[in-house]
Amino acid sequence: MGPDRSERQQVEPNMIDLHSHILPGIDDGSKSIEMSLKMARIAVADGIKILACTPHVRPPTYNNTSANITDAIHSLQQRLVTEGIDLKLVLGGDIHINQDIIEKLQNKTIPSLNGSRYFLFEPSHNVMPPHLIEFSIKILKAGYIPVLTHPERFSWIENHYDVITELDDIGVAIQITAGAITGDFGKTAKYWSDRLLAEDRTDIIASDAHDTKHRIPVLSKARDYIAHFCDEETARRLTFGNPRRILENGILRRKERKTSPKSVHKTGFKKILDRFRVWH
Ligand SMILES: [Fe+2]
Repeated sequence: MGPDRSERQQVEPNMIDLHSHILPGIDDGSKSIEMSLKMARIAVADGIKILACTPHVRPPTYNNTSANITDAIHSLQQRLVTEGIDLKLVLGGDIHINQDIIEKLQNKTIPSLNGSRYFLFEPSHNVMPPHLIEFSIKILKAGYIPVLTHPERFSWIENHYDVITELDDIGVAIQITAGAITGDFGKTAKYWSDRLLAEDRTDIIASDAHDTKHRIPVLSKARDYIAHFCDEETARRLTFGNPRRILENGILRRKERKTSPKSVHKTGFKKILDRFRVWH
């Protein structure tokens, strides 16, 4: 019999979740401070030590900016301390694709992850944005690294998987949703998350938590699955090693490279890529 849950958490109590909608009342995530506190307790019980608060940044529906997100984080962090909940919150945003992303990152109107060069980058789920690769190259050349959120859940991945792999090849980081890995988003999302894991095209997993019932801040189940489906080292890297490197503005790691990044050679982009990523 394998180790039970409490034993496992003693081994790995330091997971980092870089995608959550835990801040109350500023997007479609937490509805109240009480719900946010419950979400925080769920995260801590799961072994999450650091949680990025990443509300939607999608004007005009969600007009969140670095300023109001920072204020909301300070308020929630203070409550966590008062309540004795041991969870460190860090700044972020779920940045929906918009042509002015680079300018707004540069003038810090919209937040990267913990002030690093990495930021959550969310395209439309239903329609592949035009010129996505060219736009991503432009962002990378400006010195920022998009972390593509949950490609396994895009309806367009089926017909454009080559675009996802090319984004990966040019140096865009890939985030998979923990719930997709464990089947909570259905068979199709599970198929694509398994494939991205199997092909070693994943940099981090994250909860993308929105509430306390259906989309909760839990990584451990997916972590255990990855330890079995891939290996223990990969499970640790995707839930702790790489998230920490992002927060520290470091360089992401992969276990191995299974396909040659031909687009990189084609575009002469390898030097920039090499600066950002080390292959292991
Ligand atoms: Fe999200």
